[in-house]
Amino acid sequence: MELLAVVLWVSAALAASSSAHQPQGPPEAEELLWGPEAARPPSAASSSVSLWPLPRSLRVSAARLQLAPKRFQIVHGPGSSAGPSCSLLQDAFRRYYGYIFGYSKWQNGDETKPLLETELSSLQIIITSEDSECDKIPSIASDESYQLQVSGPTAVLKADKVWGALRGLETFSQLVNEDDYGSLFVNESDITDFPRFAYRGILIDSSRHFLPLKTILMTLDAMAFNKFNVLHWHIVDDPSFPYQSITFPELSRQGAYSYNHVYTPADIRLVIEYARLRGIRIIPEFDSPGHTQSWGKGQKDILTPCYNGAHSSGSYGPVNPILNTTYDFMAKLFKEIGSVFPDDYIHLGGDEVDFSCWRSNPDIQEFMKKQGIWFTYAKLESHYVEKILEMVSSLNKKSIVWQEVFDHGAKLQSDTIVEVWIGTLYKEELRRVTKAGHSAILAAPWYLDLISYGQDWKKYYSVEPLDFLGWQSQKELVLGGEACLWGEYVDATNLTPRLWPRASAVGERLWSSKNVTDIEDAYNRLNEHRCRMLRRGIAAQPLFTGYCRHEAGDP
Ligand SMILES: *[C@@H]1O[C@H](CO)[C@@H](O)[C@H](O)[C@H]1NC(C)=O
Ligand SMILES: *[C@@H]1O[C@H](CO)[C@@H](O)[C@H](O)[C@H]1NC(C)=O
Ligand SMILES: *[C@@H]1O[C@H](CO)[C@@H](O)[C@H](O)[C@H]1NC(C)=O
Repeated sequence: MELLAVVLWVSAALAASSSAHQPQGPPEAEELLWGPEAARPPSAASSSVSLWPLPRSLRVSAARLQLAPKRFQIVHGPGSSAGPSCSLLQDAFRRYYGYIFGYSKWQNGDETKPLLETELSSLQIIITSEDSECDKIPSIASDESYQLQVSGPTAVLKADKVWGALRGLETFSQLVNEDDYGSLFVNESDITDFPRFAYRGILIDSSRHFLPLKTILMTLDAMAFNKFNVLHWHIVDDPSFPYQSITFPELSRQGAYSYNHVYTPADIRLVIEYARLRGIRIIPEFDSPGHTQSWGKGQKDILTPCYNGAHSSGSYGPVNPILNTTYDFMAKLFKEIGSVFPDDYIHLGGDEVDFSCWRSNPDIQEFMKKQGIWFTYAKLESHYVEKILEMVSSLNKKSIVWQEVFDHGAKLQSDTIVEVWIGTLYKEELRRVTKAGHSAILAAPWYLDLISYGQDWKKYYSVEPLDFLGWQSQKELVLGGEACLWGEYVDATNLTPRLWPRASAVGERLWSSKNVTDIEDAYNRLNEHRCRMLRRGIAAQPLFTGYCRHEAGDP
C-alpha cells in the first residue's frame, strides 16, 4: 500500500503550497502560535494534570497528597477476585512502582522523616468480576473500563477485569507529579474511564527492515503508555521473510535477510506474552497474493512465473492462484500461524495485487478462458482470497483484509474486518464497507511513515473517525483505527522517535470522548506526556521548541 499512498501524498503535497518543503523558511503561522506555550518551563505546569489520553470523566480537587517511596504500596484490595497468584498484576505493580518512583531524587533519601502533607500510603486494586481474566489473552471484546478514586490515605482502583486495572494503573502513574524538590504528589481525584473504540492499533513492518526484539518490546511499552491495545505485526513482505516457520523452515532460511534476521518461535512467544502483560493483542499479517516476493525463495512454485511473449522472463509475480499445490501449502502455513498466534484474528493483507504477471502467463490465460469471458483478473484475485478466507475460517479464526479485497468484490466471511487505508477518499470507503455490513478499521489518515515539516500530529489529532455519511448502525461497525509505520525508511535507529509522540495523537483520538478536540490543551498535555515517555526510556521526539525537566539520558 506504500506506493499508491506515496503517489497520493506527493500529488497532494504538490497541489498544496510548497512552503512545507523549505525547512530553512520561516515557521508556519501555527508554529508561531505555539512558541510562547512551548517556551514555558514545564515546571510551571507540573501541578496540573497531564493525562494522556484524557479519561472519559475526570474530577480533580485541589487537595494534595504526598507519596513516600519507601512506604507507598500498590496492593490487591479487599474482595478482589485477583490476588498474588495473578502474575499479570504482580508484574504490573512492579512496573508501575518503577515508573512512579524511578526518577524521584529522593528515592534513596531519608524515609523516616514525616511528610509535610497528608500522605497517600497505598493504591488498592480491586477486580470486581468473578473471572479476572488474569491468565487470558485480551480480545476485541475485552473490558478495559476502570474507576479510580484517589483520596487519603488509600486510593482505590476498581475494574471488572485485569485489562481495566492495567489502564487504570497507567492513569494513576500519570497523576503523580514531582515538585521542584523531588517530592511526589497526587491530587485527590475521581476518574471513570473506558475506551471510545475497542481496536486501537499500531502497525509495524519487520520486512522492509528487520526490527530487533528489543525494539518491538519497547514499542509495546510505549503503546501501553498511550493505551493502545493492538500491535499489527506486518511481519513478512517482498523484501524479506523473517518469520521462522516450523512447518516450512526454508521460507526464512532462504527468504530472511540473514540467519540472524529471523523471529524464532521462542521470540514470538516472548512478544506475545510481553504484549499480553500490557493488555495488548498481537495480530500478525501474512499478506498475499501480492507482496510475496520473499516467499518464493524458500517455496518452489508458490509464485506465478511471468512471461515475456512465449518465454518465461525469469521473474515472478503474485502467488500462483491456479495450482492446487498453492492451496495445500497455504492451508498448512495458516494452520501453523493460527496456532503460533493465539489472537482470534489473522490479517490476510490482499492489497496492491499487480495483474501484469498473471496476464502474461499462458497457463493463467488458459485458466481464465475456462471460467468464461466475464472472469476478470480482479475476479481471479477474489477467487484466491475467498479460498484463503475459508481456510482461515475453518481454523476458527477471523480475518482482517485491506480494502481492495472488498473493493474487488470478493465474498467475505460475515465477520471479516476491512481495513481502510487508501488516501483521501476514506470517508466514502467507510460508508461503503459499513453499508455492506462489514466491520471496519481506519488507517488512511494515520500513515505515520509519511513525514513532513511541522507539527503533523495536529492533523492526526483532528481526524474524526465517524465523520462519514451513514446510519448509526454503520458507525457502530467502525471498531477503531490504526497508526501505520511502514518500514522502507525505518529501522531500530529511528522507529521510536518517528512513532512517538505522533502516534499518541491517534491514541487519544481512539480512546477519549469525541468532544476532546481542544488542540491547545492537547499540546500542553502531549508535551508533558512526551517528557514522561522520555523519563521512561522512550526516545520520543519533541513536539516543538522547549525542554523537559528530565532530559533523555539523565541518570
Ligand atoms: C492540585 O493541587 C494543587 C495544590 O493544592 C493545586 O494547586 C492544583 O491546582 C491542583 N490541580 C488541579 C488540576 O486541580
Ligand atoms: C486440483 O483439485 C481439484 C479439486 O480437488 C481436482 O479436481 C483437480 O483434478 C486437481 N488438479 C490437479 C492438477 O491435480
Ligand atoms: C464532553 O461531553 C461530556 C458529556 O456530554 C461532558 O461531560 C464533557 O464536559 C465534555 N468535554 C468537553 C471537553 O467538552
